[in-house]
Amino acid sequence: MNAVITGASRGLGLEFVRQLAGRGDRVFATARDPQTSKELQSLISKHPDRISAISLDVTSEASIRSALQQVSAMTESIDLLINNAGVLLGMSAMKDTGQADRLGRLTMEHGATVMMTNAIGPILVTQEFLPLLRKGKHPRIASITSGYGSLAHTSTGNPYHYKASKAALNMYMHGLAVDLCSDGIISVVINPGWVSTAMGGSAASLTPEQSVSGMVKLIDKLTLQQTGGFFDWQGHEEPW
Ligand SMILES: NC(=O)c1ccc[n+]([C@@H]2O[C@H](COP(=O)([O-])OP(=O)(O)OC[C@H]3O[C@@H](n4cnc5c(N)ncnc54)[C@H](OP(=O)(O)O)[C@@H]3O)[C@@H](O)[C@H]2O)c1
Repeated sequence: MNAVITGASRGLGLEFVRQLAGRGDRVFATARDPQTSKELQSLISKHPDRISAISLDVTSEASIRSALQQVSAMTESIDLLINNAGVLLGMSAMKDTGQADRLGRLTMEHGATVMMTNAIGPILVTQEFLPLLRKGKHPRIASITSGYGSLAHTSTGNPYHYKASKAALNMYMHGLAVDLCSDGIISVVINPGWVSTAMGGSAASLTPEQSVSGMVKLIDKLTLQQTGGFFDWQGHEEPW
């Protein structure tokens, strides 16, 4: 299987690369700056024939186009696209933003960054890679959402931008499922659970290994009847 993964520098994206390449898949591991991820570089030295590192910032159309060109130079088709890259203000990549996703501190600039990274970027990446997916075997698009993106989980509005961005991602990917169903391309959104990454923090209940192995099992077994679905990392349906 040929797989493209976004946000592969660390966390869940890196673990997807580890597990897919480890079992023999061909992986295009995309990241904003793949050279600076020691973990990704070490995986590449372990599987140099199976992993290619590609620069991709999901918020830049030029970067998305350039990534497509690089992947197209190496393969004619992809079977799986994992839209994994994401940001949560105050965590990981946006650590210095502190409490910025709380009511009273919301800004246009932060909102735009979160929306672009978590929702608009993934649909534009998918749009660009569609020609390669159309040539894939049993093509699937798995977009990593969050329980926070569900309208069923609104005990609080916080974190505002993050929740709204994942709800927007869910709608983009559900609409895409409707449009691509007749072409045999599956699109689902998956909640990975609460996972110990830079974003999830050390108190999280799941390791990246547990979450990703569950998601890989789900992705492997997906059928066209499940397209448009919202699942958790164990394959159970989530409420929208
Ligand atoms: N961990 C959890 O508990 C949890 C729960 C629910 C949902 N999720 C979702 O799971 C996905 C992975 O999260 P994680 O826990 O692995 O978080 P993480 O450890 O913070 O990793 C986030 C990844 O996204 C990348 N990224 C951020 N902005 C990007 C951009 N503009 N272009 C390309 N890549 C970008 C980061 O790259 P850099 O290294 O360049 O910053 C990094 O590889 C996210 O979509 C997140 O919302 C996580």
